[in-house]
Amino acid sequence: MSQVFVIEGPTSLQGEVTVRGAKNSVLKLMAATLLAPGVSTVSNVPDIADVRIMCELLSRLGCGIDYDAAGGTVRIDVPAAPGTTADYELVRLMRASISVLGPLVGRMHAAEVAVPGGDAIGSRGLDMHQRGLEQLGAQVSLDHGYFVARAPRGLTGADIALPFPSVGATENLVMAAVLADGVTTIENVAKEPEIVDICTMLVEMGARIEGIGSSRLVVTGVPELHPVAHRCVGDRIVAGTWAFASAVTAGDVTVRGVGLDILPNVVDKLLESGAQVTAIEDEDPARAGFRVVGPARPQPIRVSTLPYPGFPTDLQPFVIALNACADGVGLLTENLFEARWRFVNELSRLGAQVSIDGNHALVTGVDSLSGAEVEASDIRAGAGLVVAGLIATGTTEVSGIDHIERGYEHFVEKLTGLGATISRVEKPDPVILR
Ligand code: EPU
Repeated sequence: MSQVFVIEGPTSLQGEVTVRGAKNSVLKLMAATLLAPGVSTVSNVPDIADVRIMCELLSRLGCGIDYDAAGGTVRIDVPAAPGTTADYELVRLMRASISVLGPLVGRMHAAEVAVPGGDAIGSRGLDMHQRGLEQLGAQVSLDHGYFVARAPRGLTGADIALPFPSVGATENLVMAAVLADGVTTIENVAKEPEIVDICTMLVEMGARIEGIGSSRLVVTGVPELHPVAHRCVGDRIVAGTWAFASAVTAGDVTVRGVGLDILPNVVDKLLESGAQVTAIEDEDPARAGFRVVGPARPQPIRVSTLPYPGFPTDLQPFVIALNACADGVGLLTENLFEARWRFVNELSRLGAQVSIDGNHALVTGVDSLSGAEVEASDIRAGAGLVVAGLIATGTTEVSGIDHIERGYEHFVEKLTGLGATISRVEKPDPVILR
């Protein structure tokens, strides 16, 4: 048996929703705790499957884990000498496992981390991680499916220039460089809020990093770091998901836990679609947020995905869903992942009119979508199909919901709270014909 989401549409979302910490930050914050022995605590942690996988990974490296999913905190007790091997069994479940590579090489001068392999959104190379660690003095080889990194005499500061502002490579290299001997400069780094969050936590642990939030980081190595208590930045992709869900469904949704300051280009596009967006200021970051009132029918939008502060690739399925029901023709250009189109085939089953040409998706809005059975191929595609299901008439059944639950906490409960008719239903597995 497997579970599916069953949605009855069309619905207009109304109400308030709170977003907790960013999946793509919290997993790296947890990995970064490996850099200091002792008890570190991360708060504002979302209750999602990927956090549980990272808990398991750290536990297998010898850390004591105390995860309070409801309270949103994880305490990690890092031993004096953590293990250095991340098995394929866990890495294959979650690509972000690769983020233990930098901290382990930096602190233990050795790591064996399984290579994650490709996934449903593209091949996703790791050459910049490898080359950067080599520049810091590690020997890195591929051995039976594992990255094996060795730096018997420790890492040494170096000048590194990334050919592309890779999120994962930036994180791994900063985490490796904080304990290196001397100064490391990294040019053309990613500037995502999650990178800022990780650098901020490293500084709280005693690291010396200049240029946080810019394209150039200067890291002056220190001999040791100390444990920390850090609050994770809010999840701008989940917040963006709710914003688009409101815009698409002619809704009125208040989103708390993420400010508009970390959604720069997203707000412009929501406004272009005819939505009204209002900031909600509050000193408490868990209360600050924004309200999105959707138009009766969205205007089509033109979006090109780019590294931050450009429009995030992780929100592209929601742009396509919006354009699918818009009054005219919209365009989405995907510049980061070559294979993020599997979602489009599924959306077509709901009646969307999308044509793909290279990295462009031309979408002609239709008057209404009609419910059907569809399958999620990755986390954002899955959430995008649920959003499309909200506006489709009749019943939409989304399978592959494990993907969605990797990154969206209490998704069904939150949608229900906003007035959607959605339930989780057990379904027999499909018969495999031989
Ligand atoms: N790339 C290389 N070589 C490298 C590193 C990256 O060729 O050494 C290429 C990748 O193949 C890809 C592009 O560069 O085409 C972007 O990769 P990047 O390293 O920036 O992304 P990532 O670290 O693998 C993170 C998020 C993704 C998000 C991207 C872009 C995590 C765990 N994942 O991936 O999030 O789409 O940054 O913002 O932080 C998601 O949450 O659904 C998700 C896929």
